[in-house]
Amino acid sequence: PASGVLAGRQVVITAGPTREALDPVRFITNHSSGRMGYALAAACVAAGARVTLVSGPTTLEVPAGVERIDVQSAADMHAAVMAVIDAADIFIGAAAVADYRPATTAADKIKKAEGDTSLALTRTRDIIADVAREHPQLFTLGFAAETTNMEASARSKRERKKLSMVAGNVVGPEHAFGRDDNALFVVWDGGEQELAQASKQALAEQLVALMAQRLGGDAGP
Ligand code: C5P
Repeated sequence: PASGVLAGRQVVITAGPTREALDPVRFITNHSSGRMGYALAAACVAAGARVTLVSGPTTLEVPAGVERIDVQSAADMHAAVMAVIDAADIFIGAAAVADYRPATTAADKIKKAEGDTSLALTRTRDIIADVAREHPQLFTLGFAAETTNMEASARSKRERKKLSMVAGNVVGPEHAFGRDDNALFVVWDGGEQELAQASKQALAEQLVALMAQRLGGDAGP
């Protein structure tokens, strides 16, 4: 049997961006590279867990020992997570899920006209909040990528979505997205910890250690 601080644990991780189609050739997306989620998948495997990675489009290779499910839209990601979550002990929402999608997806390419236009958007479902509500016994780790007020947002996000832990990070042109290093501010029920600027792989290992501490001592040797 696997050894490590997550031995015997089943982990589901979302990673990467989502793509919300306007028509067959256009979509709305974001700058997420998927690196934090993929680093977490590798770190969880190294800690002895079985890992399912539900991934939006990225250029990254599947880490060894990880089962990857590829998705495009937020709705696809939601459905893929719900299909595998029953077996899980830990859910990590590292994906940058679109908050809105086009209200309609045209079957054919939308033609341009002379004047300006506008786009009707509708809210997507919050995957991690749904997981936390439907499976309150799961350990849930979410992220709070913010350009301002990061620490306060991380604390309030954890309470609002009823998550076990939130890792906040500052995003913007000089931060996080597409880079291999980052700094995190981690909050849980009754504690907080800053993780100094480091590679996403090193941060993933530190997050795994924090999660294992919070999960308690019944996980493996
Ligand atoms: O509310 P916000 O998008 O800032 O929350 C970020 C956290 O929520 C991340 O963990 C992200 O993966 C998750 N999330 C989600 N489904 C959404 C939106 C965000 O799982 N539709």
